[in-house]
Amino acid sequence: MGSNLFFSQCILSILLFFFISTISTLAETKDGSLFMSSSGLKYPKSQAEQLIRALNLFPKNEVNHHAEEEYELGESRIVEKQFKFPFIDNSEASVQNLGHHAGYYRLQHTKDARMFYFFFESRNSRTDPVVIWLTGGPGCSSEIALFYENGPFHITSNLSLAWNDFGWDKVSNVIYVDQPTGTGFSYSSDDDDIRHTEEDVSNDLYDFLQAFFKEHPQYANNDFYITGESYAGHYIPAFAARVHQGNKRKEGLHINLKGLAIGNGLTNPEIQYKAYTDYALDMKLITQSDYNSTRILVSECQQAIKLCGAKGGPSCVAAYMVCNNIFNKIVRISGGKNYYDIRKKCEGNMCYDFSNMEDFLNLKSVRNALGVGDIDFVSCSSTVYQAMVTDLMRNLEVGIPALLEDGIKLLIYAGEYDLICNWIGNSRWVHAMEWSGQKKFVAAPMIQFSVDGLEAGSQKGHGPLTFLKVHNAGHMVPMDQPKVSLEMLRRWMQGKLPLTQKYGHLAPM
Ligand SMILES: *[C@@H]1O[C@H](CO)[C@@H](O)[C@H](O)[C@H]1NC(C)=O
Ligand SMILES: *[C@@H]1O[C@H](CO)[C@@H](O)[C@H](O)[C@H]1NC(C)=O
Repeated sequence: MGSNLFFSQCILSILLFFFISTISTLAETKDGSLFMSSSGLKYPKSQAEQLIRALNLFPKNEVNHHAEEEYELGESRIVEKQFKFPFIDNSEASVQNLGHHAGYYRLQHTKDARMFYFFFESRNSRTDPVVIWLTGGPGCSSEIALFYENGPFHITSNLSLAWNDFGWDKVSNVIYVDQPTGTGFSYSSDDDDIRHTEEDVSNDLYDFLQAFFKEHPQYANNDFYITGESYAGHYIPAFAARVHQGNKRKEGLHINLKGLAIGNGLTNPEIQYKAYTDYALDMKLITQSDYNSTRILVSECQQAIKLCGAKGGPSCVAAYMVCNNIFNKIVRISGGKNYYDIRKKCEGNMCYDFSNMEDFLNLKSVRNALGVGDIDFVSCSSTVYQAMVTDLMRNLEVGIPALLEDGIKLLIYAGEYDLICNWIGNSRWVHAMEWSGQKKFVAAPMIQFSVDGLEAGSQKGHGPLTFLKVHNAGHMVPMDQPKVSLEMLRRWMQGKLPLTQKYGHLAPM
């Protein structure tokens, strides 16, 4: 990764100055449309493209937009179908036996949005919980997780599929959804359907879920869990709160929400951005003198994030631009480390290479099996990212205590070698969160999390709240530690994570 990928501080300051001088204009303007045209906002777009390029996921199209006239919608594309991927070693299994579904639901409260999803019935039992997975970005497809992390199969180098022994469909009926609209195979003909806030994102997800359970009433009484990674640290609390609210107000079908799990998420930026330099110093990515010279940036960032708070809006864009100076500086100093896994080098532009997924999903035989017609696959959409720029620095922790008080479980887990959403920042916000069990959670001991008799991480918990640090893993825990992540999910859903009740006497007074 060359230094050309990162803006020098000087350019940033100039942009920032320009940006702040346009904030007043921004405040008067209605949401996203301005972000496309104002030259002061080119930076977030470049930042989005930079992050996406670093993931080797730069899409041909920036967003999935399809004009109605150029795309005739057949009924078959709107509803779900059962399918069988070609090239998978399942010659004996019939389409029905596999229980694999893909399809679109039209979102009720949009002009024209269709949300794409995969649904894999459990390989164990249909009474297993229903789990929904959300990949972050914002704007990255959940198929990244499906094919490289916890899906039923992995893509091999020759574009065939191999069963994943540790797919989350071993213990759950799992849904992967492409969202917000414009991501993956999800699309709309109307730009108004591009989302800018967690409120709109979670309303769409709620409508999606209602459509899903209407189509699959036999799963509506199963336990339901919301899971995901990275920027889903924003989506998940908002979506869970939306589901909980819908249940309380009896808005639609009751959804049996039991818990939410966030892996290497961004949830409380004020605390998590402050943790960047601490993590980087601990892991020797930067020196003490780098650390000292970054203090001023950290304090500027803290002030900017405070202005942003939990509400969103232009001050959050300013915070985003100020605070990313810290991250960019660390990455620059650390000289081409993969910031999703600091054990690795980021070779060229390819920290990770997900091109097999794109090639696979563009095969005619695969598209026919899925019924997606000629809709392009957008692995990570810079337009969706950019549209969410006022949301990026918001504090999404604020909705969580109410969920905990109602007994909904929260698991925060983090692979220890991820810089971008590192475990220190996650641990700190979880400890700082105010709720009735805070004191007992803080006082609880860290205990070993072992799988097959080997230490796989360390965990602590109290009541519905659990924190787990996963060893030998980066940002994508299920990719790096597939078996451990499956065990984590299983035990957590069964209420066996962590074992603090059993060893409660170990807790210091
Ligand atoms: C694809 O690769 C896998 C191993 O990665 C191998 O078992 C399989 O035979 C290959 N398939 C084809 C069609 O070459
Ligand atoms: C960093 O700052 C601390 C506290 O101000 C100081 O004690 C230390 O000597 C500084 N270290 C370097 C290498 O600048």
